[in-house]
Amino acid sequence: MAYTMVDLCWKLSVCFFCCQVVSGRVKRDGHYVAAVYEHESILSPNPTALVDRQSALELMGRNLDIYEQQVVAAARQGAQIIVFPEDGIHGFNFTRSSIYPYLDFVLHSHSVKWNPCREPYLFNDTEVLQRLSCMALKNKIFLVANLGTKQPCEHTDPHCPSDGRYQFNTNVAFNDDGMLVATYRKHNLYFEDAFDAPPEPDYKLFDTPFAGKFGMFTCFDILFFEPAVNLIRQYNLKQVVYPTAWMNQLPLLAAVEFQQAFATAFNINILAANIHHPTLGMTGSGIYTPVKSFIYHNMESYGGKLIVAEIPVITTDYKTNLESNERFRENLHHSCKTSTSASMGNQVCFKEEQETPGRVSEKGNEQLPPLFYAEMMYDNFTFVPVWGEEGELQVCANTLCCYLNYQRAVLTGELYALGVFDGLHTVHGTYYVQACALVKCGGLSFSTCGQEVTDATAVIDFQLWGNMSTPYIFPLLLTSGITLDFADHMGWKNKHYFISKNRTSSGLLTAALYGRWYEKD
Ligand SMILES: *[C@@H]1O[C@H](CO)[C@@H](O)[C@H](O)[C@H]1NC(C)=O
Ligand SMILES: *[C@@H]1O[C@H](CO)[C@@H](O)[C@H](O)[C@H]1NC(C)=O
Ligand SMILES: *[C@@H]1O[C@H](CO)[C@@H](O)[C@H](O)[C@H]1NC(C)=O
Ligand SMILES: *[C@@H]1O[C@H](CO)[C@@H](O)[C@H](O)[C@H]1NC(C)=O
Ligand SMILES: *[C@@H]1O[C@H](CO)[C@@H](O)[C@H](O)[C@H]1NC(C)=O
Repeated sequence: MAYTMVDLCWKLSVCFFCCQVVSGRVKRDGHYVAAVYEHESILSPNPTALVDRQSALELMGRNLDIYEQQVVAAARQGAQIIVFPEDGIHGFNFTRSSIYPYLDFVLHSHSVKWNPCREPYLFNDTEVLQRLSCMALKNKIFLVANLGTKQPCEHTDPHCPSDGRYQFNTNVAFNDDGMLVATYRKHNLYFEDAFDAPPEPDYKLFDTPFAGKFGMFTCFDILFFEPAVNLIRQYNLKQVVYPTAWMNQLPLLAAVEFQQAFATAFNINILAANIHHPTLGMTGSGIYTPVKSFIYHNMESYGGKLIVAEIPVITTDYKTNLESNERFRENLHHSCKTSTSASMGNQVCFKEEQETPGRVSEKGNEQLPPLFYAEMMYDNFTFVPVWGEEGELQVCANTLCCYLNYQRAVLTGELYALGVFDGLHTVHGTYYVQACALVKCGGLSFSTCGQEVTDATAVIDFQLWGNMSTPYIFPLLLTSGITLDFADHMGWKNKHYFISKNRTSSGLLTAALYGRWYEKD
């Protein structure tokens, strides 16, 4: 769909020099071909029942058969790396004991160099690792997948669970020779009783000849400082692989919406693979660069989806990176630090002489629009309605004030509202959020603002800004049908973070600055 059209143009773009032919695909210099697979996993019909290892292997084998087909298909299209989703092989809803037969043994040690396909006899209970390793080796492709793993521990280890073993939600990365090059144990478990979190966060990365270092983390980790943000900062990473099993939550946390915002905020590429279970609200995978993406979000049909795309390697000495690193410096609020325009390398600073975001003028506001409260994603947002064809609005909560300058380009009867939240989110996880959000409401009454909406027809030109207290701002721009658009400008100016956009490609669902204030978690 949208992805296919963009991908097609991308492939057809003329390549004058420095081209390499990779498996029939013309690859441009400084680029690589990545693949992610959104997998509809074959689930155990009764995940809490105790089964033997053989039955567990049979079920996982059916998922691995699908993986193998996709690896072959991706390699045929020239992909150099493929990423599979969290829980894709074993499924979910297990208990600590019922998942045990599904666990492979993995030694979390840097010292052991092991190729499971070539040396299957080294460790017992490594059937899943062996199959994945052989897929990588046979197809000469880097492969990243997620599985459950076990590691026996001694009772002298103070963290050792009472049943004498750790059970981890683990990502594994194999190089194109089948060598196990990195293992990552999920740190921020999302109500997963079957698994233990590692005592200390893993900072895991692996090197590739085509794009340098890739970091990895899993699903819910993306919302936290440890290890995701710390990993990226410490190793100055520009590429991340991200297996996930993400339930979409509109208007601010749809999978593709947040994955894109993360890539844009950190100026990195993300290869994100989600599982596909529309009945559980799980879909949304993509290959993201800071300024362009190839996504899949489909709540209607069943089955998996392979995305293959050629993307540029982001290198550290590229001007964009030097500038955008400023974005997250401790020294937060400089004017005209960064702003991103539609194409990489085309950085535009907001003009200094431009009106300083600040107090909103009263002109045209004969009557100030009413404040109201509504629950959005379980948080008590303070809203003002966005009425009329154009205007300027302000709404504050705690220490955060949000401002909106807007002009409707396509007039419709839909209700929009500007909301602010500055507080600790406590439902389904505890984390501190500072958010300024322009959202389409579910209906025409105030109480519908904050509801999940998937379609919109209004096009609104806007500039949205807020005086956030955290440098970690994720710019969200979601349009009708869960499609993505990119801001014209964004960045810090006079202690405010701003985002602006004229003419979204379709109706506006959400434009937001989603700030994470990690210190206050
Ligand atoms: C898993 O659990 C969720 C809620 O906890 C439930 O909605 C879902 O149906 C379960 N899925 C399976 C495959 O058991
Ligand atoms: C694997 O298991 C078998 C049977 O339990 C045992 O004899 C063998 O020593 C084990 N091998 C390793 C490498 O642990
Ligand atoms: C939301 O916050 C406002 C202001 O603090 C408060 O008056 C209102 O009762 C809150 N609403 C809910 C549902 O908690
Ligand atoms: C944000 O702006 C409001 C209004 O000017 C002000 O009261 C508040 O203290 C500011 N917050 C911060 C963190 O500076
Ligand atoms: C965006 O639209 C506003 C009014 O809607 C206009 O003042 C501004 O010049 C436009 N900016 C760009 C970059 O087109």
